[in-house]
Amino acid sequence: MLAATLRDPEPITRAAAAANHQGINVVARKAPLLEAQGVSKTYTTRSREKVAALGEVSLALDDGAFVSLVGPSGCGKSTLLKMVAGIVPPSAGELRLNGKRVSGGQAGMGVVFQSPVLLPWLTVLDNTLLPAKVLKLDRQQARTRALELLRSVGLEGFEHKYPGELSGGMQQRVSIIRSLVHEPGLLLMDEPFGALDALTRENMSLDLQRIWLAHKKTVLFITHSIFEAVFLSDRVLVMSERPGRIVRDLAIPFARPRSFDLTTTPEFGEIVQEIRGLLGATAHA
Ligand SMILES: Nc1ncnc2c1ncn2[C@@H]1O[C@H](COP(=O)(O)OP(=O)(O)OP(=O)(O)O)[C@@H](O)[C@H]1O
Ligand SMILES: [Mg+2]
Repeated sequence: MLAATLRDPEPITRAAAAANHQGINVVARKAPLLEAQGVSKTYTTRSREKVAALGEVSLALDDGAFVSLVGPSGCGKSTLLKMVAGIVPPSAGELRLNGKRVSGGQAGMGVVFQSPVLLPWLTVLDNTLLPAKVLKLDRQQARTRALELLRSVGLEGFEHKYPGELSGGMQQRVSIIRSLVHEPGLLLMDEPFGALDALTRENMSLDLQRIWLAHKKTVLFITHSIFEAVFLSDRVLVMSERPGRIVRDLAIPFARPRSFDLTTTPEFGEIVQEIRGLLGATAHA
């Protein structure tokens, strides 16, 4: 569906995919980009109730890895992502990005939420340039990059339109481009395709794979679609019910680039079934 202006990716088989860790503590080999150690979250509601949202979670993400989180609704996935982004402080434990403790908003990250959250009074291009403005990056360079990225996801000609003039899928593509424009090392995506129809969603998966292969970002991706998680990821972390913990860390060994033909193979089906089984088991635990 896209004009392929991003360079063609080399097929990649990641060393990370060779290991199949199991258990709660998931540790990468060396110098992970992101590390969470014993992180948990208990919220206090307005009525002063305590809500244990996330159990103790430890994980490490290798630089350049694509890692998905799947788990039952309410198990703390968004909470974990917000803690990584520095939006919500953990109740216990520690998060480190490039070895530095995460506290407050992080400049080296891009975040994509389930709804596009675009500013309706700014054009598509100006929306994508917001992070560059906040970070005071060179406007001309950022503009060139934003235009190139917009073109790469089929939005050429829409740069000067307003968000209200775009479809939901187009708006979500704009928000993904906005998250990439300042070249973040870590991309956090919370059900970015949740509101899209099935066909747009599949196309977006292919877009995201291509962008990821071309730009080599580290991605932490939340999805309710097991299929999407397996198709896109090096690793899928399966979480239990609230307060969520990581109950399985599955390596997804398929070479890239992946096409939808892969999804019809028995190997793909087996992994999907395994995750489905784990989620079924945790849902009734
Ligand atoms: N600000 C908050 N104050 C109080 N409780 C909260 C707050 N944010 C989330 N929660 C609670 O924490 C739990 C985990 O929420 P979270 O949004 O992280 O779940 P999730 O796994 O992302 O769910 P979903 O898949 O439905 O998006 C839920 O029970 C939710 O009600
Ligand atoms: Mg959520």
